Amino acid sequence: MQATLKQTILAPVSYPARAGIGDNAYEWDDPEYNPSAFTDKFILEKKPAWADHPHVPFLEILKRKTINGKGEIVELSTSKHYDFREGRFLNPLGKTGITGRGMLGRWGPNWAADVIITKEVSEKLWVLLCEKQVGDGDSVLCFPAGMVDEGEHVPQTLRRELCEEAVDDNSAVDELFDKCCIGCVYAGWVDDWRNTDNAWMVTQAYHFHATVEVASKLTLAVKDTTEIKKSAWYDVTTIDKMYASHKDWLDKVHGDYKSSKVENGGAFLSNGPPHVPFVSNDLPHGVKYPFVSHEASLAPKTPPPLSAGEETPIGKKRPRSADGDTGHSGDA
Ligand code: BGC
Repeated sequence: MQATLKQTILAPVSYPARAGIGDNAYEWDDPEYNPSAFTDKFILEKKPAWADHPHVPFLEILKRKTINGKGEIVELSTSKHYDFREGRFLNPLGKTGITGRGMLGRWGPNWAADVIITKEVSEKLWVLLCEKQVGDGDSVLCFPAGMVDEGEHVPQTLRRELCEEAVDDNSAVDELFDKCCIGCVYAGWVDDWRNTDNAWMVTQAYHFHATVEVASKLTLAVKDTTEIKKSAWYDVTTIDKMYASHKDWLDKVHGDYKSSKVENGGAFLSNGPPHVPFVSNDLPHGVKYPFVSHEASLAPKTPPPLSAGEETPIGKKRPRSADGDTGHSGDA
């Protein structure tokens, strides 16, 4: 039996209640499924640069980069989860009880990047974490991380977020990125409380293990004080709860550390090139489009092709969207 996902039970306060998803999260044509349509007012009215226009040219959506179930970066056109009635791609993790974009800017995948920095002190693994503000007075531990900005490549996001949330931007950061990359710990969909049926988080979490010298030159500093209260090094064995899926990744890194101690007699091999090279992630949502209706010529005449043998995930009884957020069906 599938574990209950956060995207089916939790939501930011601005969200309406999530509708029940029934017994099968992937049964999109469930006649009982009656999700609420919701896109944050801020997105619809203020049209921030990081968010899509309610209508995005369908051909552009098809080319948008996502991460598939194997952790590979692919075009969204390869996804078989598509709602022909609404003209929207569907969350690969299943139903969420809400359609539209919620507070996520992009239709489909919304890209984040997480940076996991460790060091070894007295035969123990330490990790660099931030204390993130998540509500009135509440905070939670997390890796330095954030959304991939327009036109940014994931490695640039990792560096930018690290220097905004945890350390000063100095030559030690260059050394860390040049010499200490261990690899990608996670690449894929994230069970995030902001997810909707039509907008969801994907991330890549990269691990860097600082040598003693690099670690000694990293200076802790927080620039983004609206979101982050402080950054600090923590003994990994003292951490039991973290933001989103971060604890799973920390456990993975800790497990790798313990096996690498057994196999190599030392901590991670941190001076060579990355074990897993950076994935070339050209402009995840880099095509610029103006906030005007797209040309009729770009509207799809037929739904996207499904690969042989794939089923049509049409939501037969789902209500039409009622939040003024129209999707990318080209029905303008
Ligand atoms: C956070 C990341 C997290 C991602 C998915 C982003 O907003 O900054 O740390 O991995 O959301 O939950």
